[in-house]
Amino acid sequence: MPHESPPVTLTVLPEGRTVPVLRGHSLLQAALREGLAVPASCRNGSCRTCISRLVQGQVRHRIDWPSLLADEIAEGWILPCVAEPAPGCTALAMVPGDGRGTAV
Ligand code: FES
Repeated sequence: MPHESPPVTLTVLPEGRTVPVLRGHSLLQAALREGLAVPASCRNGSCRTCISRLVQGQVRHRIDWPSLLADEIAEGWILPCVAEPAPGCTALAMVPGDGRGTAV
């Protein structure tokens, strides 16, 4: 009997819409697929346009050196274009933007 992973959901705040994150998709892909307005440009983890704050769950970045400082990562900042759910994580929530009214 095949083992199926539980579905992963992503809630994008402050709107509060929850969308599924398909296997192999980044958080940005999941949001855009469902029509949510998350800013993006390079989609490779370098420009920081998609910077968001993770407020629930855990992610891993697909690239070794996303354009984030270690302090930013420790504070919960992520780059959704190269972020995917961490193993075992089933629910994520993030707030797009850098909190200064830019990149939103
Ligand atoms: S879109 Fe450029 S870092 Fe995410």
